[in-house]
Amino acid sequence: MCVFEGILPCFVQFMLGLTAHSLQESQEFDILEAFVKTQQKGEFYMKVLLLNGSPRKEGCTYTALCEVAKALESAGVETEIFQAGDPSRENVRAAAEKVKEADGLVVGSPVYWASPSGQIIEFLDLLSGMAGKDLLHKPAAAVASARRAGTTATLDVLLKYFSFHQMPIVSSCYWNMVHGNTPDEVRRDEEGMQIMRVLGKNMAWLLQSIEAGKKAGVTLPQAEEKIRTNFIR
Ligand SMILES: Cc1cc2nc3c(=O)[nH]c(=O)nc-3n(C[C@H](O)[C@H](O)[C@H](O)COP(=O)(O)O)c2cc1C
Repeated sequence: MCVFEGILPCFVQFMLGLTAHSLQESQEFDILEAFVKTQQKGEFYMKVLLLNGSPRKEGCTYTALCEVAKALESAGVETEIFQAGDPSRENVRAAAEKVKEADGLVVGSPVYWASPSGQIIEFLDLLSGMAGKDLLHKPAAAVASARRAGTTATLDVLLKYFSFHQMPIVSSCYWNMVHGNTPDEVRRDEEGMQIMRVLGKNMAWLLQSIEAGKKAGVTLPQAEEKIRTNFIR
């Protein structure tokens, strides 16, 4: 038997395989390129607003939020850290404007007396009144920074604002907390830093999933008229 009778079909198959493979690769490249171009044109991008609920502008809470922001940015999500340690009406109004444009929200607070700071409570009370409808259905996460204790109680309080506004709550590989009295101590809390990074990645993944859902025709649940009984019958 001629040796080419066996080799030739194999060679043809091999070449066809190579062509198909490079075709698939070039298609994947085209999709990626199109995605990057749309992002650059600003037609399709996502943004997360991060509220720092400490009166210390660049303290421990800020340090934790920076780590979340870094992970979000690496996943292609734009971020802005907003100083929410000042609950004056004009500052809350400025945040309310930003909430309109944001796709997701992260609220960070130092632990004061085993609770969130008074400033962030006042801030969120006002924000809920001013921008409640703009919070609806946007993914959200809370972050607590403490020297030692009161973190989970703080997170519980902050999460109440999200669950009231039907916001999907984003979690991490532990409850979202860092420990320290100074930014440097927080940076040395390796576990805390990892929790912040994973939180950022999870938030990016959820935002991208929601965006993909929108493109596939998934719509928001139909709103119901609110019933308020105040327990009076
Ligand atoms: C008024 C006040 C109360 C505090 N209460 C607590 C507390 O109950 N538990 C705790 O672990 N740390 C407590 N701390 C420490 C802060 O939570 C901690 O230093 C935090 O990381 C500071 O974050 P910041 O730099 O963003 O303000 C308190 C600090 C202050 C100023």
